[in-house]
Formats: sequence, C-alpha cells, structure tokens
Amino acid sequence: MQRALQLAALGQNRTSPNPLVGAVVINESGFLVGEGFHARAGLPHAEVGALNQAGDQAKGGTLVVTLEPCCHQGRTPPCTDLVLSSGLRRVVVALQDPDSRVSGAGLERLRDGGLEVITGVLEDLAVSQNKAFIHRIRTGLPLGIMKWAMSFDGRTSLPNGASKWITNEKSRDWVHSLRAKVDAVIVGGETVRRDDPLLTSRGKSTPEPIRVVFSRSLDLPENSRIWDTSISRTLIAYGPEVPKKLLSNLPKGPGKIKLRSSEPIDLLHSLAEMGCNSVLWECGPKLASIAIKQGCVQEIAMMLAPKLLGGVPAGTPLSELGLYSVEDAFTLKTISKKTFGQDLLVRALLE
Ligand SMILES: NC(=O)c1ccc[n+]([C@@H]2O[C@H](COP(=O)([O-])OP(=O)(O)OC[C@H]3O[C@@H](n4cnc5c(N)ncnc54)[C@H](OP(=O)(O)O)[C@@H]3O)[C@@H](O)[C@H]2O)c1
Ligand SMILES: [Zn+2]
Repeated sequence: MQRALQLAALGQNRTSPNPLVGAVVINESGFLVGEGFHARAGLPHAEVGALNQAGDQAKGGTLVVTLEPCCHQGRTPPCTDLVLSSGLRRVVVALQDPDSRVSGAGLERLRDGGLEVITGVLEDLAVSQNKAFIHRIRTGLPLGIMKWAMSFDGRTSLPNGASKWITNEKSRDWVHSLRAKVDAVIVGGETVRRDDPLLTSRGKSTPEPIRVVFSRSLDLPENSRIWDTSISRTLIAYGPEVPKKLLSNLPKGPGKIKLRSSEPIDLLHSLAEMGCNSVLWECGPKLASIAIKQGCVQEIAMMLAPKLLGGVPAGTPLSELGLYSVEDAFTLKTISKKTFGQDLLVRALLE
C-alpha cells in the first residue's frame, strides 16, 4: 500500500476533479507484477494501468489500491468490471470512495463477485493524500488554504502598501511549492493593482495553478504580469452587478467568469464546477476576512519574518471579523511549524 500511495502522488495537481489513486498488483507468489496511477482526469484509472501491466500474472493474485475501485460509467468504464474479469483472488483498499456514486458499492460488487476484500489499510495516509478531493465531495466546495506573510509586529505591508519582500527567499520558495499543490490561486483586484503579482509555482507544477483575480469594480490595470496567459491560465471573476461596458475594457487574454454574486462563497461554487478540488487564498485583509467569515478557508499558512514594519494604519492579515468578545474568536489548531532560515512557518487548521 505504501508503494501504491507513492504512485498515487505522481498525479499530484493533475487529477482534479478526480482523486489521486495508485495501485499495484501482486502475483500468487507475492511478487509485484503491475503498477499504475491516475495521471489526469479523463485518462485511465490506476487499476487499469496496474492490471494491464500484470496481464495473466494477475490470476490468483492481489490488487492493492489506495481508493475503492469505481463501479459507475464515468469518462472511463467501471474498474470493478475489469477487476472481476482479471482472475484476481483478493483486493486490498485503503479508503472507501466518498463519492456517492461509489461509496461502498464498488467493494460490494467485488465481494459479490467472489473476491476477498480487505479495507482500511493505511487509511489515514490515504485520507490525508486526498484531503482536498474528500472535502469537495463532502461540501461541494474546494478546500481553502490561506497564506500570508507577516512581520514580527503583525504587518503584511507598510502604510504605503509596499510588501516586497517581508519573508526570505527560502520561505518564498516554499510558497511556490504550496501553489504547485493547489488547483487555483485567488487574489483580489487591489492586490493586482498594488503588487503586480505573478502567482505561479515558478515551474514546480505543470500545468501551473489557475490564477483568479476576483474584482467587483473591474478597475484593473491594463498591463500586469498576471495577464500573461502563456505562463499559466488566468481568470477574472466578477459579480452580476458589474456594468457591461466595463467588460470591454478588460485585457483579452484571461478568461472571464460571471458569478452569481461577488461573494467569496460563490466564487468557490464556480471553481468547484470547473473541477477545482483546492484553492489558495493569497489576498489582502479585506477579501481574506470575508472569505474566513464565509467558511471558505480550512487552513492558514502563516509565514513570520523577524522584521518590524510598524505604521498606523499598516497592512494586517485580516480586517474586520465582526467580533465583540474574545470568547467568540475563531480558533485554530496548529498542525506544523517549520523554519526557513530566520523565518517561521506555522500551519493551522481553522476549527
Ligand atoms: N503580505 C501578504 O501576505 C499579502 C498578501 C496579499 C496582499 N497583501 C497586501 O494587501 C493589500 C491589499 O489588500 P486588500 O484586502 O485590498 O486585498 P485584495 O486581495 O485585493 O482583496 C480586496 C479586493 O478584492 C475584490 N473583491 C471581490 N469581491 C469582494 C468582496 N465580496 N468583498 C471585498 N472585496 C472583494 C475587490 O477588488 P476590486 O477593488 O477590484 O473590486 C477588493 O478591492 C496590498 O497592499 C497587498 O500588498 C499582502
Ligand atoms: Zn475506476
């Protein structure tokens, strides 16, 4: 199963809206005779690759797969049919598929077909590997991670808006790796106007995550690095209140999405419909606070740099959360801490 999980990870950032899945086939004598993984939505599932490689050697053997085999006709035929016709004796699964079209029915079909089925092997690892997929299936929305870079005195920018660079090069490299693991990166119009960000993984992921500029005013600069869609796809997302005449002024390269409302939650609904399992919020305080209040954020990654920026007013990670008592504060559960030179990264889950 550890090998199957390793194989599954090879599909990182390419399988959405599908999960990461890896599979191996062990023959009757206990030798590994087939490996496969799901490489991209629309391409064959992991079981198909592993069983094709194993061929006749699968007879009497075991299929080890990180996710329950599917039993419905999607873009590809049901894997349970192939598993049943391959002559296997046993199937070992890490995680039951949370997708309601499968959700135990695949395992049942295999048991009905006379196979021995063992489940729950390294389940925790499989859950953590497919955290984003599971979240989208359960909530209908992509998993939201929010990242900010902050000085020791809690500032995310100077009073004049300057924020380059608060953290060191190693920390910024880690942020590029984080981008490589999500389907989309979101900023608001003000961050584009002030920072002219690139928002790519600097080639750590192919394709690069979709860059989403969320704006209500559509008062966006004519020239910005983010409009260059030769590096990565860019979308401009806006609400229904935007006057039509403003649309003609927008740069031609980026895609445009009209949302049901200019609320972060509706942006997430649209991105889920487009197949995103995960998003990274890299916005400033105004948009960040609303996104948190609307439950769009499940995890926060805070980079803390040993610098004092000062200033009143100065940029801070969040603006108003509408609280009147500390007892009502949003609470977090720290899951990891790591240093990059003198910078500290703290990751925490919003409870
Ligand atoms: N240190 C860091 O980690 C970090 C990260 C990001 C940004 N920043 C700093 O944050 C500052 C910008 O802060 P910001 O909060 O204005 O950031 P922002 O990321 O631009 O978000 C605010 C913008 O989001 C758009 N938006 C769309 N729907 C919205 C809604 N329902 N409610 C509110 N806004 C909505 C609006 O764009 P339109 O005005 O175009 O309508 C609004 O101006 C910059 O100085 C930047 O340097 C720092
Ligand atoms: Zn399948």
